[in-house]
Amino acid sequence: MQAWRASLLWFDPDADHPCHRFESDGLLATARDADGVQRVVAIGDWATLRRQFPDVPVADRRGQLIAPGFIDLHIHYPQTDVIGSPAEGLLPWLERYTFPHEARFADAAYAGEVARFFWDELQRQGVTTALVFATSHPVSVDALLGEAEARGLRCIAGKVLQDRHSPDGVRDHTEQSLQDTEALLTRWHGRARLGYAITPRFAPSCSDAQMQGAGALAKRYPDVWLQSHVAENVDEVRWVRTLYPHDRSYLAVYGRFGLLRERAVYAHGIYLDADDWALLADTRAAVAVSPTSNLFLGSGFFDYAAARAAGVRLGLASDVGGGMSFSPFATMRAAYTVARAGVRGDGAAKTAVSLSPFDLWWQHTAGAAQALGLAGVVGSLAVGSEADFVVLDPAATPLLARRTAQAESLAQWLFALVMLADDRAVREVHIAGAAPTHSAARPQHARN
Ligand code: GUN
Ligand code: ZN
Repeated sequence: MQAWRASLLWFDPDADHPCHRFESDGLLATARDADGVQRVVAIGDWATLRRQFPDVPVADRRGQLIAPGFIDLHIHYPQTDVIGSPAEGLLPWLERYTFPHEARFADAAYAGEVARFFWDELQRQGVTTALVFATSHPVSVDALLGEAEARGLRCIAGKVLQDRHSPDGVRDHTEQSLQDTEALLTRWHGRARLGYAITPRFAPSCSDAQMQGAGALAKRYPDVWLQSHVAENVDEVRWVRTLYPHDRSYLAVYGRFGLLRERAVYAHGIYLDADDWALLADTRAAVAVSPTSNLFLGSGFFDYAAARAAGVRLGLASDVGGGMSFSPFATMRAAYTVARAGVRGDGAAKTAVSLSPFDLWWQHTAGAAQALGLAGVVGSLAVGSEADFVVLDPAATPLLARRTAQAESLAQWLFALVMLADDRAVREVHIAGAAPTHSAARPQHARN
């Protein structure tokens, strides 16, 4: 058993809205289970819990904040080296940079090197679980999930399906792609802390036969995840309308092929209407809100009011390499910004909302876990959950120290962190599945 003394932020894992708990002087105790995973045994106020666990060694982190490791609900590891590639919107960006670069992941050694860098970077930023796109090459999945397993991480990933409207080098073959998906799913799903996600890239890149095959697999393996993109960009939406003229909407295409269900996560969802929101809510599919990507590619502004009114599950995502940063703080800042916008991006108005720091933090932890069907497993630090957590320094930079010291409420204090923190605030990252705890890679003296 191990314990930490620090300020603690955690979440009710089952509430369908941000329901936070906080202790300014708290104790977190963890113990390794029979399956080798560290779990939370106790969390609460120091004075009470210390009496219950008088002999447990305590790491003193007073002055710092312990919070759940962040969950990135949508990210492309092969696009690590595509960040910052400017284009006139999504479709030219895919053609000019993304598809040519992803072709390199046919090479297992190259994929392995990028996978190691990718996990180093995510962990350094405080992200401990991610739902990840690999490429269309099966070896790209093995590289990523093999690396996650070696690090004891909880990760879900899948081979991209794209058998049309895709160049040589990334385009796959319908039958083979579905066989590869089933083989990968059998190899990885449920092994260690890993999961598999059936991954049709987006409706324009998949033939009817491939979509049907993906839907059949999704039905045969109901506890496997499913991930794709929907309604991100106005040109993309127009294209889908010409490819699928008989479907009511872009989202409805996925519904027709059996691709909307629990454990299905769709990135973006900017250009959806009321029927689409109702369809997402009814099927319990979730949306990965990806605000830095939407700002970088000029895609538009996510409509929180519409999503929330329908009761759709949401979580935050970087969408690297459309996204600009691996940092959950950068993503939370961007989410605040897009929520404030009064327009969507296609001329339609939307209701501007001001997201609280509790809400932003929840969407990147317990809310994202709920979207994945992993409530109480990761993202909350409630008793019984897996002990992936971060130790954050609220005085990591002069400005952060100044603004957190001025805060007159917990909300103000957390808002200062959301707005001003970055990797310099991430002092330690603890992974439940690893034997020794993993510390952030940079040496202490280099952090300020
Ligand atoms: N739509 C289809 N593929 C992609 C991708 O790689 N990134 C983004 N942002 N949207 C997509
Ligand atoms: Zn994406």
